[in-house]
Amino acid sequence: MTNHSQGSNAPVRIAVIGSGYVGLVAAACFAEIGHTVTCVDNDEAKIAALQGGLAPIHEDLLPDLLAHLSGTQLSFSSDLSTAIKEAEAIFIAVGTPSLDTGDADLSYVESVAAEIARSINGYKVIVEKSTVPVYTNEWVKRVLVRNGVHPENFDVVSNPEFLREGTAVSDFLHPDRIVVGADSQRAYELLARIYEPLTSGSYYAGRTSLPGKRSTGNPVPILHTSAKSAELIKHASNAFLALKISFINSVANVCEAVGADIAEVAEGIGRDSRIGPRFLSAGIGYGGSCFPKDLKAFCSVGSQVGVDLKLLHEVETINAKQLSRFLAKIRSTLWTLKGKKLAVLGLAFKGGTDDVRESPAMKIVEALLSGGSSVTAFDPAAMPNAAAIFGDRISLASDPYAAAERADALVILTDWKEFAELDLERLKHLLRYPIIIDGRNLYRPEEVTRHGFTYVSMGRAPASPATDIGQAAAHGSLQRN
Ligand code: UDX
Ligand code: UDX
Repeated sequence: MTNHSQGSNAPVRIAVIGSGYVGLVAAACFAEIGHTVTCVDNDEAKIAALQGGLAPIHEDLLPDLLAHLSGTQLSFSSDLSTAIKEAEAIFIAVGTPSLDTGDADLSYVESVAAEIARSINGYKVIVEKSTVPVYTNEWVKRVLVRNGVHPENFDVVSNPEFLREGTAVSDFLHPDRIVVGADSQRAYELLARIYEPLTSGSYYAGRTSLPGKRSTGNPVPILHTSAKSAELIKHASNAFLALKISFINSVANVCEAVGADIAEVAEGIGRDSRIGPRFLSAGIGYGGSCFPKDLKAFCSVGSQVGVDLKLLHEVETINAKQLSRFLAKIRSTLWTLKGKKLAVLGLAFKGGTDDVRESPAMKIVEALLSGGSSVTAFDPAAMPNAAAIFGDRISLASDPYAAAERADALVILTDWKEFAELDLERLKHLLRYPIIIDGRNLYRPEEVTRHGFTYVSMGRAPASPATDIGQAAAHGSLQRN
C-alpha cells in the first residue's frame, strides 16, 4: 500500500495546464468536487479575463462554477513553474490540433513536459487530459527522463476526456465512465482519490451539487486500464461516434433517393438497444475541434502501426460530401445563388457552443458567399468568433427574425434549440419567399408546409404547401409584397 501525503479523501492539489474548452472545464469541475486547483495558460489575456471572473468560452453552467469557486478552490495563473511545484497531479490540457499530415501536433504537449522537467520538485503524477495518440505516454516519459528527471519521481497516466462542447460541465460531473490509463498502482490511486467524490457518489449528496443522471445510489464507474488502452479508448470512441453520424447520413441519402423519411428510419433503428437513439441525427455532417482532428490522428496511428483504417477514411469522405449535397439542395431550391439574399441561422459547429472550429455552417456560408449570395446570419453565441473570420463579408443580425427580413430563403445550419421553435407565421411575413432549407432537420415537414412554406431538409423529400399558391412560391413566381 503506497502511503499518500494525505488521507484517501483529502483534497488533492491539482494543476491544469491549458485553460481551453477542456482544461477550463476540468479545472472548474475538479474544484467543484473539492480539490485545490490552479489553472494555467500561456495566453496571459485569457488568464487576466479569468482572474477578472470572465469565462472566455460559452459553456452552460461554467460561469456559475467560476463565480463561486474562483479565489477559493480555483485560481488562475500564467506561472507554469510555480503551479508545477505546488501540485501533486498535473493535467495537460493544451491544444493538440491537426498538422497538415493529419498527425496530432504534440509540440505543445512536449513543451509542457519539458517545463515540468525543469520545475519538478518531488513525485508528480502527470496526466494526459488532451486527446493524444497512443504512445504519447511513452514520449512524455522519455522527455522527462532525457531532461534529467529520475523515473522514480514521476508517473505519466492517461485520463481522456469525453466532454461535449456546450454540455461539458454536466458531462464532467455526470459522466458515463472515468477512464484511467495508469501503469503504476501509485499513480492510479492518486487519480482514484481525485475522482473519489464521483465514484463513491458522495459529491451527489452535496446540497449544491449539480443535478444530473448520477447520484449517490448510481455513482460513476472508473475503469483502470493501461496507458495505451486509455489513449486508444478516446480515439476509438470519437471514431465510432463519427462513424455513426456518417452512417446515418448515408442512410439519409438513400431515404432521399427512394422517398423514405430519415427521421422515421432513425427512430426505427435507434430503438434497437444495441444501436441506441443518440448520434443518429442526419444533417450537414459533423465538425468541431475533435472529430475531424481525432479521426485524422487515429488514421495516422493506424498507418504507423501497419493497420489501414480505411473504414475511417470513408467516414471522412461521406462527411465532406454532406456539405456538397446540402449546397446542391440550396441551388436546386433557389436555382441561382448570385444576387440572392440569404438568411442563415447558425454559425457554430453545433448548438450550445460558440466554437466555429471546423464548423460545417461556416463552410456552407463561405460557399454561399463564393456563389455570389449575400448572407445575413444569426447565432446565439458564435457570432464574435465568426466575425473574426468573415469580417464584413457577412451581415450579423440581432435575432432570427431580423436575419430573415426580406431574405429570399431561410437556411438553418446549426441545431440550436431556439431554431426549432421559431414563429413560422412571423417568419413568413418577413421573408420575401416562404422557403426554409434546413440542414439539421429541426422540423417535421408537415409542420412547416402547414404554414405555407416550402421546406427542404436532409433525408426527406422536399415538401411544399398543398395549395397552388404554395407551388408558385416554391418556384419563386409569387412576388411577395
Ligand atoms: C484540447 C485539445 O486540443 C483536444 O485534443 C482535447 O480533446 C481537449 O483539449 P481544447 O481545450 O479545445 O482542446 O483546446 P483549446 O481550446 O485550443 O485550449 C488549449 C489551451 O491551451 C489554450 O488556451 C492555449 O492558450 C493553452 N496552451 C497551449 C498553453 O497554455 N500552453 C501551450 O503551450 C499551448
Ligand atoms: C465530441 C464527443 O462527443 C466528445 O465525447 C469528445 O470528448 C469531443 O468530441 P463535440 O465535438 O463537442 O464532442 O460535440 P458532439 O456533440 O459530439 O458533436 C460533434 C459533431 O457531430 C457536431 O458537429 C454535431 O453537429 C454533429 N452531430 C452530432 C451530428 O451531425 N449528428 C448527431 O446525431 C450528433
